[in-house]
Amino acid sequence: MASTSLYVFCYLPGEVSAVPAGRFDHDGVVGVGTFAYGRRYVNRPGALAVDPVALPLGADPLPVETNGGLYGAFRDASPDYWGRLVTASGLKCPMESLSEMDYLLHANATRVGNLDFRASLDATEPTLGPPEFQEMEDLLIAAGDLEAGRPVDERRRLMLEQGSSLGGARPKCTVQLDGELWLAKLPSRNDRISMPRLEFGSMKLAARCGLDVPEIRLRTIGGRDVFLTRRFDREAVGGGWARRGYLSALSLAQWDEHDRDRWSYRSIAERIRKYSIRPSDDLRRLFLRIAFNILVRNMDDHPRNHGFLVEQGGLILSPQFDVEPALARPGVGSEFFLAMSIGPQGRLAALGNLRSAAATFNLKPVDAADLILRMQTCVATGWREELGKAGFDDSELDILAPSFGKAAL
Ligand SMILES: Nc1ncnc2c1ncn2[C@@H]1O[C@H](COP(=O)(O)OP(=O)(O)O)[C@@H](O)[C@H]1O
Ligand SMILES: [Mg+2]
Repeated sequence: MASTSLYVFCYLPGEVSAVPAGRFDHDGVVGVGTFAYGRRYVNRPGALAVDPVALPLGADPLPVETNGGLYGAFRDASPDYWGRLVTASGLKCPMESLSEMDYLLHANATRVGNLDFRASLDATEPTLGPPEFQEMEDLLIAAGDLEAGRPVDERRRLMLEQGSSLGGARPKCTVQLDGELWLAKLPSRNDRISMPRLEFGSMKLAARCGLDVPEIRLRTIGGRDVFLTRRFDREAVGGGWARRGYLSALSLAQWDEHDRDRWSYRSIAERIRKYSIRPSDDLRRLFLRIAFNILVRNMDDHPRNHGFLVEQGGLILSPQFDVEPALARPGVGSEFFLAMSIGPQGRLAALGNLRSAAATFNLKPVDAADLILRMQTCVATGWREELGKAGFDDSELDILAPSFGKAAL
């Protein structure tokens, strides 16, 4: 059967149950999807667009052909490599045998944002039961077995599945801790150093240098590090969880995930001017993030690693996530590239390239230069302390040194 239909539900602000927003028809053979809002939803006071860019309320929705026929916000609400691996292992089938619609349907209440996808109007969402942090030992075992291709104990696998509907490729699970929901990022068998520890230390450094970082924690369980970041799209209310709408920068710009050559900060900045409810603030924040990414060699700044939250009337840039400095190889040369074009020198990770793009971010050249200089000083004077506090010893800090504060000017 080529065409499948799903009902799209939306959690409106402050609500712990969702209302039907419309129907999504998807032709998996040609890769085209079409969404239509329900009339009752459009007339509901306080209704939010399910995708404020591709599907504004009140406009006639256009079919979508990018990303396999998924509107941006729908694709964002579906898992990536990690969540797909967990789902496929539960269904005991190869990941490639499942369709985009299968993944949309199987993802549970821990997916990002405020949308839910159901096979019928009277179906309910898979129960929200993200595991407790206390169960981390079991989660680490399940994730480790799954990554290594070993059989996974079914009780542990189910526990992991309950929290694994967010995007991204690294092993992760949403957990409950101190009455809040947190994203726990786990170690991976391919890590050369402790990535949870590196992400924690780098995020602490980001916060010290003025970036907008969620509450974060680092825990070590049975010798394995876990990085925790509080979910900025969930809030505990009266025995349930209120949700905030989410859109990645990929969806804001309406790019296809394979369109790497088109990705540029300039296009994202143009969309921020159009859709953000605080454009100057968000442009400045994005500028600071790019400066920081250049200075800590965070090359994984692709447009799914920048997010926006949906507010009544527009978007705001979400707090920062997924900061993972790449290890530089001494002797191979220090030049490197970000994932998106920055300025006149394209993707080249050089502070001068960013400085030349000041106008893109509504900044005067003198202010851009000042922000960059301050960021440079903060990273140079702070990185060793923050990563040391995160638990790296002197020999590990020496291995990390070529990645911090060494960017080309
Ligand atoms: N603190 C957070 N609150 C809510 N959603 C988050 C948070 N951190 C990350 N996310 C979402 O989860 C996804 C995966 O997280 P990320 O850190 O990017 O993992 P990975 O390293 O596997 O790419 C992100 O693309 C983002 O949509
Ligand atoms: Mg990511």
